[in-house]
Amino acid sequence: MNNADKHVLLTGGTSGIGHELAKLFAKDGYQLTIVARTESDLIRVADELKALGAAGVTPIAQDLMTPEGPFKLCQEVTRPVDILVNDAGQGAWGEFLDIDIQRELGIIRLNIDAYVILTKHFLNEMVTRGSGKVLNVASIAGKVPGPLQAVYHATKAFILSWSEAVKFEIRDVKGVTITDLMPGATDTDFFHKAGMEQAVVVQEDKLAPAADVAKDGYEALMKGEDRVISGFMNKVNITMSNVMPDSVAAAQTYKDNKPADETKS
Ligand SMILES: NC(=O)c1ccc[n+]([C@@H]2O[C@H](COP(=O)([O-])OP(=O)(O)OC[C@H]3O[C@@H](n4cnc5c(N)ncnc54)[C@H](OP(=O)(O)O)[C@@H]3O)[C@@H](O)[C@H]2O)c1
Repeated sequence: MNNADKHVLLTGGTSGIGHELAKLFAKDGYQLTIVARTESDLIRVADELKALGAAGVTPIAQDLMTPEGPFKLCQEVTRPVDILVNDAGQGAWGEFLDIDIQRELGIIRLNIDAYVILTKHFLNEMVTRGSGKVLNVASIAGKVPGPLQAVYHATKAFILSWSEAVKFEIRDVKGVTITDLMPGATDTDFFHKAGMEQAVVVQEDKLAPAADVAKDGYEALMKGEDRVISGFMNKVNITMSNVMPDSVAAAQTYKDNKPADETKS
């Protein structure tokens, strides 16, 4: 089967890391279904991906923060999915006690429920066929508690734990792989959506280019690797945090997440 016959379902394909991943699939001539909420972005990006070489592009507008959104998407995608990319995700910046509960429940639905629902549906089909790949866009945030992004970090910790367990369960299924991409802070619209523009990590411009992160994820996915941490310093930091007490890791993370103009450390 050549790439033109392979179908990629990619959530969050219109911006940031997901957009860069979509461009890589397009250049390699895959069929793509891209999912996001903003119809005008979907139409614009679909045209861009076709121009880059995608064999076909189907845009689907769906809000995956709603309880029914991921289930509707499963029903709408009737063509077999050869590669599932769970990318769409959001965070919210601020003290846990101050952030609106409905906003946080929406983030949990998008960052956890949507990944679980789509993977259960499409991975079952892959295992039955004996072929397929899943890329979960997780984060190094999943390895450390994140003051001022407490729920966001915890959603990514869920993804890493859940994904690793599912990988073990399907270890004997030849031809089906699950890969977790762990970016560090990346230059995308994420921080704007999270209301996080004043945080140290953004103000000091410690952000990796989204294209570099996507390339790391794409290559790991194609090789069927279990997990990839994008960026040398992120690998170093995660190695260090693995041997730190969680309370120390939380304090370290706070230094990046806190407002740049705040004096307390
Ligand atoms: N940026 C970072 O520093 C960073 C670091 C580590 C991991 N990540 C992870 O990378 C993934 C992509 O984030 P990004 O940084 O590329 O962010 P981004 O630039 O904001 O892109 C997010 C994409 O997801 C879509 N999306 C957002 N909310 C959605 C919803 N409710 N339903 C359906 N689609 C939705 C967006 O389109 P619409 O807004 O039109 O829906 C957009 O296409 C996320 O899982 C994030 O947690 C990001």
